[in-house]
Amino acid sequence: MFTKTAKQYDAVYSYKDYESESELITKLIRERVPDADTLLDVACGTGKHLEYLSESFTSQGVDLDTEMLKIAEERVPDVTLHNGDMCEFNLNSKFDVALCLFSSIGYTKTVERMEQAVANMANHLNPGGMLLVEPWLSPEAWLEGKIHTNTYETEEFIVTRMMVAEPIERGRLVLEYMIGDSSGISHVTETHEMGWFTNDEYSNAFTKAGLELEHLEEGLTGRGIYIGIKR
Ligand SMILES: C[S@@+](CC[C@H](N)C(=O)[O-])C[C@H]1O[C@@H](n2cnc3c(N)ncnc32)[C@H](O)[C@@H]1O
Repeated sequence: MFTKTAKQYDAVYSYKDYESESELITKLIRERVPDADTLLDVACGTGKHLEYLSESFTSQGVDLDTEMLKIAEERVPDVTLHNGDMCEFNLNSKFDVALCLFSSIGYTKTVERMEQAVANMANHLNPGGMLLVEPWLSPEAWLEGKIHTNTYETEEFIVTRMMVAEPIERGRLVLEYMIGDSSGISHVTETHEMGWFTNDEYSNAFTKAGLELEHLEEGLTGRGIYIGIKR
């Protein structure tokens, strides 16, 4: 995952507007669970949504990657963060809202593990609570053979990231980074194992987890959103 490039993560995704995404998430929550107070961001990464959401909700975060969590700890020192796998973590507490954003659910890779993650997040909800999952891209949106590249500059480093969209059947993204800083230039290769799930597979997972499902086509970033209310 992002273990070797956690320090570059925020620069690589600097095009994302976490503040306005968090405003939209808050609106979606308030429309469905007006009195929501407690919130859990699963696969919280470097804590950029938590930075804004913790202004309105008593928030906690979970992530598998300790390097990402170290950055989140610096960003949101007052938020409790946990190291855990979204399929298995057990916090022994319930929340009004659970989130799994920016396609992190794709890292579960298989339908079985995606269902486990959805069930586990649902188990951490209070009755009437809400789960919001932003899925991975649909197979139709994946342009096989397309080359993606971007360069980002900060005061500390310059990073160039490049990837070729491999055939979906391989179920992976191979990301190549060139990172230059005052100590020199390094080359990092990262392989991300991802699952491509259909609308029916997500719907099934939510229904099996006892969640009343709603699907918003556009969502936060055009990838859509699945919302489940625990009844
Ligand atoms: C694309 S990043 C999204 C991070 C953050 N939500 C954001 O919007 O920037 C995916 C995150 O999922 C985390 N992750 C991957 N597999 C996971 C798992 N099984 N359980 C918990 N977190 C996981 C990674 O460590 C990474 O922080």
